[in-house]
Amino acid sequence: MRTTVGIIGAGPAGLLLARLLHTAGIDSVVLESRDRAYVEQRQRAGILEQGTVDVLRAAGAGERMDREGLRHDGIELRFAKRRHRVDFPALTGGRSVMVYAQTEVCKDLIALQSKEGGPLLFEAEALAVEGADGDRPRVRFRHEGREDVLECDYVVGCDGFWGVGRKAVPVSLSRVFERTYPYAWLGILADVAPSHDELVYARHDRGFALLSMRPPVTRHHPSEEVASLPVESFVSRLYLQVPADTRAEEWSDEDIWDELERRFETADGWRLERGPITQKSVTPMRSYVHEPMRYGRLFLAGDAAHIVPPTGAKGLNLAVGDVVTLARALAHEKETGSPELLDAYSATCLRRVWQAERFSYDMTALLHRAPDATPFDDRLRLARLERIAASRAAETDLAEAYTGFPFE
Ligand code: APR
Ligand code: PHB
Repeated sequence: MRTTVGIIGAGPAGLLLARLLHTAGIDSVVLESRDRAYVEQRQRAGILEQGTVDVLRAAGAGERMDREGLRHDGIELRFAKRRHRVDFPALTGGRSVMVYAQTEVCKDLIALQSKEGGPLLFEAEALAVEGADGDRPRVRFRHEGREDVLECDYVVGCDGFWGVGRKAVPVSLSRVFERTYPYAWLGILADVAPSHDELVYARHDRGFALLSMRPPVTRHHPSEEVASLPVESFVSRLYLQVPADTRAEEWSDEDIWDELERRFETADGWRLERGPITQKSVTPMRSYVHEPMRYGRLFLAGDAAHIVPPTGAKGLNLAVGDVVTLARALAHEKETGSPELLDAYSATCLRRVWQAERFSYDMTALLHRAPDATPFDDRLRLARLERIAASRAAETDLAEAYTGFPFE
């Protein structure tokens, strides 16, 4: 098999890259180790920055997002039983974010790719990238029980944190910057209307909690006798800070709701609505950057190169920034023969990556409570939150980072 750009991984990074290359007239093949149903059901974050929304629209992948996604103009910070709203458009000259789940972005991109893009092979596991430092890089992969080779001009590792792409960079050239956290997030999906119309980030002595949501899904009641009426069902997405080694089964549904209620409590009598929990899982927290993001004809994009803790909702948006930069560079090379943008790829991405690392770390530190936190640490965190609530400058800094720095 032969293609111009061999893409490993059909998460948002790989799928969007394939789409952007297709619209630029560059052919690609995507290899994905999991099956389609798995990729379309995997639960991830659901906040799209303004720039991500613009890119998806321009790529022709924004139709359902524009119909079903929820535009959010702010978030609420909750601490000391008080609430403070951060107004994004007022602070950033009109920017906002979109609530639309990553799995839905993936579904839309898969549908587009199947309709009019290049090959997208599911259950095709990349085993190794070879010859990245030469002119003819290859991906060895296994598909339908057979080993095969994908010959490429370029290989892109969009294969997430555990993928094989990064392993093809010689250890002597790699630099890794990493931090783990002594806590994780227990996340649930629940069939209940969100108790607030915007996201709530809560700091509490017992730990962080987040109220988020998914766009309502319209279901038709199956009925043989009467024409079915569409019914809107609402979905809440909620998270609790838990110790790093927690297993989701350790928490009963009732314990989860009780704990959420404690951490979201306000002095003004706000109430948390409960509902049936349909999904429960634990997300580990990590900060990680691999430099450089390029080795010869191998490029890394998305989680394959960097991880942020989910507090700033930056993971997907960073992946989008990488592949936009890469697609532009490949198109530039195709049109002009000049590799200058490809040569700049790693440095260009890393500037944005480190800003997101900084913001995600700061948001995490601001809102979580480490097991060894001292009373002094607790007071500092509160003082930081008070500062954001009292100073337009401090608040603007948060709003600019949350809604996303423009792509270079
Ligand atoms: N061969 C083929 N596919 C692979 C291999 C392999 N050896 N290893 C991993 N993959 C696939 C995974 O199954 C997954 O579908 O690569 C894909 C990587 O997708 P993501 O993990 O979603 O990563 P990315 O596309 O970079 O998206 C970043 O994902 O983890 C979230 O918060 C993160 O929102 C961010 C987004
Ligand atoms: C989510 O809705 O899953 C979500 C929202 C905001 C975050 C993280 C996750 O910061």
